[in-house]
Amino acid sequence: MTTTTTTTASSTIAPSTTGFEQHPLRGRFNAAFFRAMDPYMDWTLRSRKERVFAGLPNEIVEIGPGVGANLRYLPAGSILIAIEPNRSMHARLLAAAPEYGVTIDLRVRMAERTDLPDHSVDSVISSFVLCSVQDPAAVLAEIRRILRPGGTFRFMEHVVAKSGTPTRAAQRLLRRPWAWTFDGCSCERDLEHAVRTAGFASVSLERYRIHSPFLPFNTQIAGVAQA
Ligand SMILES: C[S@@+](CC[C@H](N)C(=O)[O-])C[C@H]1O[C@@H](n2cnc3c(N)ncnc32)[C@H](O)[C@@H]1O
Repeated sequence: MTTTTTTTASSTIAPSTTGFEQHPLRGRFNAAFFRAMDPYMDWTLRSRKERVFAGLPNEIVEIGPGVGANLRYLPAGSILIAIEPNRSMHARLLAAAPEYGVTIDLRVRMAERTDLPDHSVDSVISSFVLCSVQDPAAVLAEIRRILRPGGTFRFMEHVVAKSGTPTRAAQRLLRRPWAWTFDGCSCERDLEHAVRTAGFASVSLERYRIHSPFLPFNTQIAGVAQA
């Protein structure tokens, strides 16, 4: 895989080409929020992440890594191509990577268009990103485009709850403040349907519920889709 990059101590940063709308305050708030919540979130999600991210190769693409919640699941010595358009996340992501022996190759891009070559990667990972991207179907098509045949997309997402449930009512009620606070995140997307209909050769997916104080976030899916 060849790219033009500039190098820092343990990371590389590609020049920016992104249509991402950077909000100065909310961007910084989200970076601080996800950093502060990381121990709690990881405690809540660890057993599923260990299953979904098991056996990753030494070069991985992650879309929307944020401040690095998934670095601890990557093999030590691995290279992470990090597709992260939100500049507020970068400092913490780059600072955290050496703690886990991971080298970051940071691409300031949106996942809708990674600019990575066709069929060039073995694994793409993400957690809680398809809720935030502008076009989930375009991102899933892009992931399929860059994966080698047999390569895997390992994901974890929060999704729309079943209609008629209290969680669905909370999602409907809170959707606007939720999206405002979390930089455009939708708590109403049917991402199970989006992944299942994205054209992967196979999809193995678990639907489950967590019990966090963030009610709209509690209905989730996690799994592996194979190109
Ligand atoms: C809810 S945060 C999740 C961060 C991290 N994956 C985690 O689990 O803590 C959503 C992330 O997706 C990123 N994001 C938003 N739109 C994106 C896009 N179009 N392409 C790639 N990343 C995007 C945000 O900058 C943010 O880092």
